[in-house]
Amino acid sequence: MSIPEQFSNLRLPLVAAPMFLVSGPELVIETCKSGVVGTFPALNERTSEGFENWLNQIESALAGSADAAPFGVNLIVHKTNPRLKDDLELIVKHKVPLVITSLGAARDVVDAVHSYGGLVFHDVTNIRHARKAAEAGVDGLIAVCAGAGGHAGTLSPFALINEIRQFFNGTLLLAGCISSGRDIATARMLGADLAYAGTRFINTRESRADDAYKAMIQACGAGDIVYTPKVSGIPANFLQPSLARAGLLDDDSPSRHKADVGAELAGAGEEAKAWKTIWSAGQGVGSIKDQPPVSELITRMRREFNDASNGFNRDNSRFME
Ligand SMILES: Cc1cc2nc3c(=O)[nH]c(=O)nc-3n(C[C@H](O)[C@H](O)[C@H](O)COP(=O)(O)O)c2cc1C
Repeated sequence: MSIPEQFSNLRLPLVAAPMFLVSGPELVIETCKSGVVGTFPALNERTSEGFENWLNQIESALAGSADAAPFGVNLIVHKTNPRLKDDLELIVKHKVPLVITSLGAARDVVDAVHSYGGLVFHDVTNIRHARKAAEAGVDGLIAVCAGAGGHAGTLSPFALINEIRQFFNGTLLLAGCISSGRDIATARMLGADLAYAGTRFINTRESRADDAYKAMIQACGAGDIVYTPKVSGIPANFLQPSLARAGLLDDDSPSRHKADVGAELAGAGEEAKAWKTIWSAGQGVGSIKDQPPVSELITRMRREFNDASNGFNRDNSRFME
């Protein structure tokens, strides 16, 4: 197990995951100030210039907090992302502490981030991609398991974590339905170093999600999450009422169009428009009943983490040697 030394000041073994259209500087700043890694997708700003403005905003807000956790940026490493080169140059210029790569794990991206001492984590849903990313030299792998928000996987966390551990000694993160401090403790019991949570952070005061989106999350349970390729071309989890409203539940065509990151840019593509009204969330929604400020959520999670960790030892002691 390994948590990088750059993360030595974390107050909870948790990364708040990057979310398209949801994560902005407000969420990142409050998360980092509370001692948890905050992240956002570079594509949440329409242009590379706007992306750099966000970097400046986050850096200056965190400059005064000596004990703030590091922040991270999600970079789509795919030929259809026309901003890849420019955004990577900005990442190097600003020495972004953590880069989370999606779709492709490329050796040259890893080398560029390592050149200034940054870390690269890559998200995977299967073993084949995990092996490729490990070969590209990433520092961490994010096991995106069944029930996660966004482009989730289909594998059980027990299966994915244990198989990845057989060939990967770097930092291992677990994603999918992590909503409480107890869930974070459980992720570590399962063999992950860090937990990775998205959906829980949609329902915070600082997220950019619509009020109606947050309300729908509070009204839904795991049974209301539909795993479908119809919105992106790649299977992802969506809130059933938002799919129904868009008429996509009755449409049995296999998918509307192929994945094209270029079309997500500028908030103008069909993909971006779709994600504005068809709302993604993971199966963990059933545990989410409020919209607290991030600092309050993390304080609560720390208490739950402590109680769960102490409780595990106490309750398991009669089976332990
Ligand atoms: C609304 C939404 C948008 C997302 N957008 C992205 C994204 O732009 N890039 C990315 O790498 N992952 C994205 N994800 C996936 C998350 O980073 C993370 O893997 C996932 O939310 C973890 O599962 P959980 O939601 O059950 O906690 C998104 C997830 C959600 C719910």
